[in-house]
Amino acid sequence: MEVVIVADAAAQGELVASAVAELIARKPDALFGVATGSTPLPVYQALATKVGAGQVDVSRLKVCQLDEYVGLPAGHPESYREVLKREVLAPLGIGDEAFLGPDGSAEDLPAACAAYEQRLADAGGVDLQLLGIGTDGHIGFNEPVSSLASRTRIKTLTERTRVDNARFFNGLDEVPRHVITQGIGTILQARHLVLLATGAGKAEAVAATVEGPVSSMVPASALQMHPHATVVVDEAAAQQLKLADYYKATYASKPAWQGI
Ligand code: F6R
Repeated sequence: MEVVIVADAAAQGELVASAVAELIARKPDALFGVATGSTPLPVYQALATKVGAGQVDVSRLKVCQLDEYVGLPAGHPESYREVLKREVLAPLGIGDEAFLGPDGSAEDLPAACAAYEQRLADAGGVDLQLLGIGTDGHIGFNEPVSSLASRTRIKTLTERTRVDNARFFNGLDEVPRHVITQGIGTILQARHLVLLATGAGKAEAVAATVEGPVSSMVPASALQMHPHATVVVDEAAAQQLKLADYYKATYASKPAWQGI
């Protein structure tokens, strides 16, 4: 995998937004997989700036969701569908018809998971999937010991993840216990994976992902099996990487036109 160490979240946002812009220029009807949480917000802001400046045409872009809480009523402001409408679709000027996501309020959740897998496949598969990483090494909501071959399914959140996400709710009790998430096998089918991490709180998970063994205890380590995975981290999130100098030298010697 390629590891890019940037100065801060703003530089991360700019770099990754440029990669998304290059994808859209190459493939205007690409399927762009987005993540929720705090980390990707600078990417969405930088992309919205490019769209606003007329540098990127998203009129044919399709956007898809990585995961969703189970049990929040449709329209709940913290459902990931609503969060993504606010943070991604509205700023980019993309309508609901170009948005794919699982139905976390469905009565038959296994059927909703299978239907979402099918919709992703019918749309031609994900071209670029953004990923955050949990402090416990999760990607999507694939918590530790998730099958590395898993498909979209229902998962139970760990207490650690619920505590991490309580900041978006009025306390821990309101954080749902269950989610629908693309499986690790599903995520690995995207053509390009871009994992983002910022801050010292992610340093341990990042080091285990990049330099540790592939293990279901660190679900993000499955990225080591992907032919085009890019990890973009700030200095704080990179602080436990043993080969940080090597990654910096490698990236610095890469031709600028090649992107990530
Ligand atoms: C969200 C998701 C999660 C987050 C992760 C990090 O769709 O899939 O894996 O990316 O929990 O969240 P932040 O960025 O808030 O630290």
